[in-house]
Amino acid sequence: MAENAEPLSITAEACANIAFIKYWGNRGVGLNLPLNVSISMNLESCVSRTTAAPLSDAADDEFILNGRPAEGDAARRVSGFLDRIRETTGRREKVRVSSENNFPFGCGIASSASGFAALARAATSLFGLNADETELSRVARLGSGSAARSVMGGFVELLPGETHADAFARQLAPASAWPGLRDLVVVVSSEEKAAASLSGHSLAATSEMLPGRLSAVPARADRVRRAVADRDLTSLGEAAELDALSMHAVMMTSRPALPYWKPGTLAVMEAVRDLRRGGTEAYFTIDAGPNVHVLVEEENLSRAARVMTDELGFRTIASKAGPGARIVESSP
Ligand code: PMV
Repeated sequence: MAENAEPLSITAEACANIAFIKYWGNRGVGLNLPLNVSISMNLESCVSRTTAAPLSDAADDEFILNGRPAEGDAARRVSGFLDRIRETTGRREKVRVSSENNFPFGCGIASSASGFAALARAATSLFGLNADETELSRVARLGSGSAARSVMGGFVELLPGETHADAFARQLAPASAWPGLRDLVVVVSSEEKAAASLSGHSLAATSEMLPGRLSAVPARADRVRRAVADRDLTSLGEAAELDALSMHAVMMTSRPALPYWKPGTLAVMEAVRDLRRGGTEAYFTIDAGPNVHVLVEEENLSRAARVMTDELGFRTIASKAGPGARIVESSP
């Protein structure tokens, strides 16, 4: 690259993540300020690769998702996110964003976390914003709350906050801290979910269960932090299962209700309990959809996957802890 020449495009990659302590409920959609702390692990096998390139003289941003021009809400969400970065940097140029996921759509893994973490990395760099990981996590949070956690590698927590400055992510441990932990997504249904998490957060406060959940989360989060430090799957798994059930209790009792589970969801939950009864340590957690994530140690992965595939007939995707958001290409 010629000295001082601005890059024509910047490509970044980021992993999706699975939360052991879930973020559910925020203070208004605009800043995605979470009501409670959340803790997750990045998923090494589930990566978004996102390129940002300036468009000279264009009236609008362009968003290409998995090779196809995206319109409507998806395009507006990306453009609104870029506006935030333009406001901060005083830059005006429109941007072409192309994003590809290496994991299939509707497989139970939200691409908003990996997509916005990668876009935050690429777009801040394109606009010359010198953001460290903490600041980058604040920026990514504006796209999707869970994206803040995908900025750092390994095991990450997102602090709740009342202001933009307070709500940022920090790494609890790098991916190498627990090399044997596996997350197995069990794809119960690949239909698009009925209610996007973006709008679901604002319903949390309509549930009578929310106060109970919010008072229980801090102690559970402490348990998860200790479990990650000690590589203690029993403690991690018990806390993660309880947290998922608590979040879904809030979802099911919101007005309107958000009942995400399908019969297959319950079948997988029961199969996980059966594995445990048979001496195989496995625990479930569930995001805003019917699919189930199963947490196991590496040596039990194939047994758990066999049960889900051979006995229940569901597709699975396995991941270990993955890295944070990073620039992988900058051109010319
Ligand atoms: O980042 P959002 O708005 O998609 O919210 C994430 C919601 C959950 O996936 C259900 C929980 C979490 O913390 O990842």
